[in-house]
Amino acid sequence: MSEPGAAVDPRAAALDDPAVRSRLDPQGMAGVLSRFPAQCREAQALRPVPDVPLGPPRLVVVAGMGGSAVGGDLLSACAGDRLRVPVLTHRGYGLPAAAGPGTLVIAASYSGDTVEAVSAFEAALAAGTVVLAVTQGGRLGALAARHQAPLVRLPGGLPPRLALGYLFFPLLGILASAGLPTPPPTEVAEALEVVEALAVELGPAAPAGKNEAKHLALEIGDRTPVAYGGQLTGAVAYRWKTDIEENAKRLAVAGALPEMNHNEIEAWRAPEAGRLHAILLRDRGEHPDIGRRFDLLRAVIGPVAGGVSEAWSRGEGRLARLLSLVYLGQWTSYYLALGRGVDPWAVPVLEEVKRRLRG
Ligand code: F6R
Repeated sequence: MSEPGAAVDPRAAALDDPAVRSRLDPQGMAGVLSRFPAQCREAQALRPVPDVPLGPPRLVVVAGMGGSAVGGDLLSACAGDRLRVPVLTHRGYGLPAAAGPGTLVIAASYSGDTVEAVSAFEAALAAGTVVLAVTQGGRLGALAARHQAPLVRLPGGLPPRLALGYLFFPLLGILASAGLPTPPPTEVAEALEVVEALAVELGPAAPAGKNEAKHLALEIGDRTPVAYGGQLTGAVAYRWKTDIEENAKRLAVAGALPEMNHNEIEAWRAPEAGRLHAILLRDRGEHPDIGRRFDLLRAVIGPVAGGVSEAWSRGEGRLARLLSLVYLGQWTSYYLALGRGVDPWAVPVLEEVKRRLRG
């Protein structure tokens, strides 16, 4: 909170100003973000139709791109301490050669028109794997219907990156019905409570002086954001990068400890480092050595970096810890967009590339 009589930071005032928000965000991304907890609750009821019985697979592949791939990353991160089969997130055409009989392939594309996900679905049919589609329709939806493959039909009308709840929670149900261990209901309930509290704390009505996401956006300012996660939160750092790129239209960097200690850390040299802002995504459940590495990273880059911020996960269970940091990143990228004066919703370049590839 600002001190009485302290000068008001005009950048903070702009983030608090509803007029700025309605000018730059006419489609209402803030409203969609605020409803994220409700989306997660609704998404828990989404099931594949037909709901065919699945045997326990030896490998699970979640095939998708961009916002539709993140469900796979979250799945392996939140269930990785229980799962005895690998969960691969496949971003690209076709499928890895390891996919064959005994593999469960989940082709995820919010729009249903992403060629890579469609190609993965076709490759799964050819390889004789069990294959499901998660989509609101499009070509993938039509393919699933033609082959009578189980389809989780998602509500439409959102940019895919804002449909994370819809894209992630049905995966938990699919894994559970295949006999694989997933976070217990108490952990899921805790995660929903945590994001519900954050929706209020990080939403536009919470003033910059008390709002962690606005505060982070102001700290980052015009510098290039570099998000670092730990062993569990590396995928979250990547999601921060893509949210900042799509929403704020700014390049961002993502990395993870311990890997970045073995390469990227060498690149933090003055004067270039002065134009970067590191955001350390900390997790209360992180391995003590990861904590030491974060401290060391801060000591090494602190003197040369343009800035260093730290954000901590909330909650006890893995799911709450992961979702809380993802959600904080979504809101931070939203305020970075407003700070830069751009519409967070529109992604015209990305869409133009897709259009040209469709020919
Ligand atoms: C846009 C977004 C993108 C898309 C990606 C794949 O909001 O998040 O990263 O997710 O282009 O499209 P879909 O998700 O429709 O398969």
